[in-house]
Amino acid sequence: MTKTLLLLPGDGIGPEVIGEVRRVAAALWPALTLEEAAFGGAAIDAEGAPVSDATVARAKAADAVLMGAVGGPQWAGVARAIRPEAGLLRLRQEMAVFANLRLALCFPALADASPLKREIVEGLDIVIVRELTGGVYFGQPRGIAALGGGKRRAVDTQVYDTDEIVRVARVAFELARKRRNLVHSAEKSNVMETGVLWREEVTKLHAADYADVRLEHILADNCAMQLVKAPKQFDVILTDNLFGDLLSDEAAMATGSIGLLPSAALGAEGAPGLYEPVHGSAPDIAGRGVANPLAAILSFAMALRLSLGRADLADRLEAAVTAALDAGARTPDIGGTLGTRAMGDAVLAALG
Ligand code: NAD
Ligand code: IPM
Ligand code: MN
Repeated sequence: MTKTLLLLPGDGIGPEVIGEVRRVAAALWPALTLEEAAFGGAAIDAEGAPVSDATVARAKAADAVLMGAVGGPQWAGVARAIRPEAGLLRLRQEMAVFANLRLALCFPALADASPLKREIVEGLDIVIVRELTGGVYFGQPRGIAALGGGKRRAVDTQVYDTDEIVRVARVAFELARKRRNLVHSAEKSNVMETGVLWREEVTKLHAADYADVRLEHILADNCAMQLVKAPKQFDVILTDNLFGDLLSDEAAMATGSIGLLPSAALGAEGAPGLYEPVHGSAPDIAGRGVANPLAAILSFAMALRLSLGRADLADRLEAAVTAALDAGARTPDIGGTLGTRAMGDAVLAALG
């Protein structure tokens, strides 16, 4: 059966890395239908909004959606509600992809590419399960109010309902069962009400349905420290939207570069997933053709496995990435000199 992947290249290095996904997809699965829509700043410029209603509808109708990245200094002055990042938040919410699986895997060939010592990162294989459609990113009230006399007040609201915690925790426990059977649940129950509720609900769910999985509660600040000190102690890290954003960038550096980290945002069984490299639009290197396309290519592999029913092709593609790295292919972020396209060539060559 033919499947449809909607590509949302977006801004900055987004179109550069998605270009390599296009080439890889054409080689790996020529019958896959690739669609494309404007997203982020590019969509603000072309359509007046960072994600149009039509694009949201196409995303929901596709089998999977793969984005590049959004944002950049060009849109810094745009009202917050229609900034590029707001388009991504709207898409996540409309697609109801509440569980974001961010993979931090240290490729054997890259054990010396991390700023952390080889022995600390060699063999690292972590999944961060980040809650993606709730918490302080979406909580009301929020805004900036004038208090008079030139004084202003900003408010963000961190809020979680029990069902939002339980459904994402379930994803983490199910995943752990297929891996090394260990979940660290990271929150700030020592200072935050949402942290208390998070810990209570995770504990309850664990006792009821997942007592066979090892569960450790960890305060999120200590989790950040442990990720640098001894990241291999982790298997699955379950955490909220904001902590997950921070911890995944940190985990990325253990693998060598954020240009390597793929992710899958998943919702209800059978609904299309949203696949996102963890990195942003990287304005500092955009337009130079030097961005690492592997996070995007590996996100495509996750889409093949989790939304497109082609685990066989996902295996082949991941093996090709490993082989390309084994053969010495390196973009500048991991200590080499290859450009984006040359890295794509290396993966294509390894695909055979
Ligand atoms: P960033 O991830 O874009 O860049 C951080 C650093 O990592 C930069 O030095 C960049 O050059 C480097 N980097 C990122 N991706 C790389 C790649 N594939 N290859 C090599 N190096 C790479 O984060 P930032 O600079 O804080 O944010 C820039 C813009 O991107 C902001 O507008 C932000 O809101 C947006 N952003 C978007 C997403 C997304 O679309 N999913 C994610 C994060 C940030
Ligand atoms: C990410 C990004 C996004 C987030 C922004 C661009 C909305 O940083 O996906 O990690 O904070 O979720
Ligand atoms: Mn982020």
